[in-house]
Amino acid sequence: MSEFAARLVAWQQVHGRHDLPWQGGHDPYRIWLSEIMLQQTQVDTVIPYYARFLERFPDVATLAAAPVGEVMALWSGLGYYARARNLHRAAQLIVSAHGGRFPRSAAEIAELPGIGRSTAAAIAAFAFGERAAILDGNVKRVLCRIFGIEGFPGDKAVEKALWERAEALLPPTGVGRYIQAQMDLGATLCTRSRPACSRCPFADDCIAYRERRVAELPTPRPRKAVPQRSARHAVILRADAVLLERRPPTGIWGGLLALPEIPSTAGDPAHWANERFGLAVAERRQLTPLRHAFTHFVLELTPVLLAVDGNAPAHLAADDGDLRWLPLGERAAAALPAPVRRILDALAAPDLFGGD
Ligand code: ADE
Repeated sequence: MSEFAARLVAWQQVHGRHDLPWQGGHDPYRIWLSEIMLQQTQVDTVIPYYARFLERFPDVATLAAAPVGEVMALWSGLGYYARARNLHRAAQLIVSAHGGRFPRSAAEIAELPGIGRSTAAAIAAFAFGERAAILDGNVKRVLCRIFGIEGFPGDKAVEKALWERAEALLPPTGVGRYIQAQMDLGATLCTRSRPACSRCPFADDCIAYRERRVAELPTPRPRKAVPQRSARHAVILRADAVLLERRPPTGIWGGLLALPEIPSTAGDPAHWANERFGLAVAERRQLTPLRHAFTHFVLELTPVLLAVDGNAPAHLAADDGDLRWLPLGERAAAALPAPVRRILDALAAPDLFGGD
């Protein structure tokens, strides 16, 4: 797109922000402080903190000489306190390694603790007029939308493409106001949710807008693969009652009655049922596995039908503390985990018993 920077700057002159406390001057210390405070915090919140901080620490030397506790106290309420610790450490480094003079290039500024490539570029551009590209979260969003850049921007390859695009778009001069314009567009129009596309100077060219994909770009972080677990659960059936066991109080289905879980170390389920419950299994059949999604994992549950012959031993004939024979006909009224209910419903379905 031709004239990208010119169009953006023209928009900023009319609609951008011009009276923020850190605008207008070229003192790198003040600009640095504002950029750090603004990294994770809204402009309105930052303004009073910025004023108080500068009143107490008007320059790098004062900040470097202050006890860290005092720096933290002036930061308290802003959050992300590593920012304040890094600010203090960087001030001390500027004094000890740079003779108290703020480094003058983006490359050197980026060496200081707590200052990444984009923040270093913003400081160098605002303070010294260096022609360096920024790429913060707002700019990433703007570029992804206008140029239809696909893929999660945190992905290395996507980020590389974004940096290249950001550098290619830099105007030959006036980089400070261009950077401010990028920040303003991202913060006020091209917002993450409900962007004001109709007022955007790029509405005619924006790929996301043209293709009605503004809500889809930038591509969100890919969801982590959900861990899978599998377990066999015993459906021990005697006459028309199923054996349920109360789950331990913690873990899945804590405290609920559920099908006894066959330990993964158990071999033959019939053998396990005999050892565990003293039951003689007459018929054994694996039922259709089902999947159940928990918050942090997906469980593949394989029900194993174990039909018991004859009378159950005495301790299981009546319900005991953690074990209960539930007549299938009473399952509707029992508090059962959803997958257990599905299994019992399938079990009670006529086709399973040869009916119609
Ligand atoms: N966010 C980050 N840097 C900013 C700046 N200089 N002005 C407004 N918002 C910002």
